[in-house]
Amino acid sequence: MSNIESVLHENRKFPPSTAFTAAARIKPADFVALNAEATRDSVAFWGRLAREELRWHRPFSQILDDSRAPNYRWFTDGVLNASFNCLDVHLAAHGGARDGKPAIIFEGEAGDSRTLTYGQLTAEVCQFANALRAQGIQPGDRVVIYLPMVPEAVIAMQACARIGATHSVVFGGFSANSLRDRIEDAGTRMVITADGGWRAGKALELKQAVDEALATGCKTVEKVIVLKRTGGAVLMQAGRDVWWSDAVRGQATGCEPTWVNAEHPLYLLYTSGSTGKPKGVQHSTAGYLLNAKLTSQWIFDFREDDVFWCTADVGWVTGHTYVCYGPLAAGATIVMYEGAPVYPDGGRFWSICERLGVTIFYTAPTAIRALMRLGDELPNKYDLSKLRLLGTVGEPINPEAWIWYHTVIGKSRCPIVDTWWQTETGAAMLSPLPGVTATKPGSCTTAIPGIDMAIVDEDGDPVTDPDQGGWLVVRKPWPSMLRTIWGDNDRYVSTYWAKFNNRYYVAGDTAYRDADGYFWVMGRADDVLKVSGHRLGTAEVESAFVAHPRVAEAAVVSRHHEIKGESIFAYVVLKGQRPTGKDAEKFAAELREFVGKELGAIAKPDDIRFADNLPKTRSGKIMRRLLRAIARGEPITQDISTLENPAIVEQLRGAG
Ligand code: WTA
Repeated sequence: MSNIESVLHENRKFPPSTAFTAAARIKPADFVALNAEATRDSVAFWGRLAREELRWHRPFSQILDDSRAPNYRWFTDGVLNASFNCLDVHLAAHGGARDGKPAIIFEGEAGDSRTLTYGQLTAEVCQFANALRAQGIQPGDRVVIYLPMVPEAVIAMQACARIGATHSVVFGGFSANSLRDRIEDAGTRMVITADGGWRAGKALELKQAVDEALATGCKTVEKVIVLKRTGGAVLMQAGRDVWWSDAVRGQATGCEPTWVNAEHPLYLLYTSGSTGKPKGVQHSTAGYLLNAKLTSQWIFDFREDDVFWCTADVGWVTGHTYVCYGPLAAGATIVMYEGAPVYPDGGRFWSICERLGVTIFYTAPTAIRALMRLGDELPNKYDLSKLRLLGTVGEPINPEAWIWYHTVIGKSRCPIVDTWWQTETGAAMLSPLPGVTATKPGSCTTAIPGIDMAIVDEDGDPVTDPDQGGWLVVRKPWPSMLRTIWGDNDRYVSTYWAKFNNRYYVAGDTAYRDADGYFWVMGRADDVLKVSGHRLGTAEVESAFVAHPRVAEAAVVSRHHEIKGESIFAYVVLKGQRPTGKDAEKFAAELREFVGKELGAIAKPDDIRFADNLPKTRSGKIMRRLLRAIARGEPITQDISTLENPAIVEQLRGAG
């Protein structure tokens, strides 16, 4: 990998204020002590924390089982329940004092609101868990959750955890096709959905998508539970579909948890990789919950009166770890918002922060960039003085957006935690600790205690020179690591471990460290795209294109996009004549809708260019680097002399 010669990274440092540090949970001396403990013996370190932070039904005797590496197992003979650790432990009946503390403060897009205390949330989770049992759901069964961002999404996840069912949340923006693939891959017994959800003033038709998915497959699904949210008309299939309100009617509000093994699969979450088929990332119960809770406490510095708002949808891993599990395990108050950030206008986020008294706000760079573009007047209209800590996640943040976030939203008072992690890592891995680390705009700084990350070259040797790029790897197993890919352990090993002979977990990102040892993530090294922070595979988008009867072949690359970070650029070869002029425009619009329908609106390409054929190497591989250079308007450095039809380059450039 090439040396980054003109490193443009910011070198300005923003240390936390002395006042912030003085009140922080983790102070510089604690950080030094935690790191020293972890360096001495990382396994013992995690063992101590697992004993202290989780409530065990039966304690574990072994911390790490590496006998089947790289399929690591943690706390293997321990027995516990995730929902018990997120809910019951906070109640007086189990030694807590948070019965009346708000757990969820919810705001619907239309302005409706609802607050659930820990006592009320526990009762609702128990009642729904009893309903799931009554519908025949057993420990280990897979349950797909396809819901809008309403409290019932968290209730459904926690209820599955309570009875040992493995949930698989599918983002409500995914299409019926994507939903069907995920339902089928997991051998799902039940789907939990809603009539719809509100997004930008329109109702998302969720139940209709479930009906479509089930009409074309999904033979294992026996029951569909339907939450009434929008009141829109839906078809209910007798014997299969049950209203949420009917399912819980008469169910008790207490429910003995199903005690499960530490390694019991808490959830699957499908994510994109470099093939057309999304991978079911499988997470454990104890190890996952441990890192979710610890990172929530360390990075977000929770205090008893904080109001924490992570804007992520539960359809993504951030909504699992920093909405549903981490903050609740830590006993925090969370905000959930159903709708679009710009509804009815671009001040909605700031208005929620003011009205609900948000103290810690965590969002994606895409949202920050989009809101930054709307100007300073909107946020300046609201009282943001309660905010004390800001965070970002999901994609690199450009220094300009960071500085805006820092000055206009945080009024130069709030530290910013830029957290790097992945669906696979389960919890944040690289991040400042807000009372300790001096931040630099655009860098996720250093690894959290216990996490051993490095940059290595093609041979797997550590890169020691500052600013020299390489592969981002994790050198030691950690509790919240993914356990496998559902139904495909070979893919688990080949995707994450094989590159360096199972020595390191390979994240798939490239990165470098600066002279201070700070990490700067450059982006994906594989064919994964980050469009508005959402993860998509080029192969998935390509197969959506070729599903159209007129498309012969498609190649998808990304280009830089000012707000979305990356956008999709597609080269398409049709069966028959290549359209030009108005015909090309019209058909491109049709294809854009088609891909949106196949995969979901987030996958709609920004650019579509038609070509007579695609540039290929002699062995028939599409020359992606060439296509990328063209899409990005970069100079072409590839050897194109071997191309069968060199004139194609002009056509791909849009000039032919
Ligand atoms: C990217 C999201 C730069 C990275 C939690 C990673 C980031 C992928 C950051 C995982 C960050 C995530 N800075 N890049 N702070 N956080 N990424 O699975 O490329 O949706 O591999 O998990 O997002 O995306 P995923």
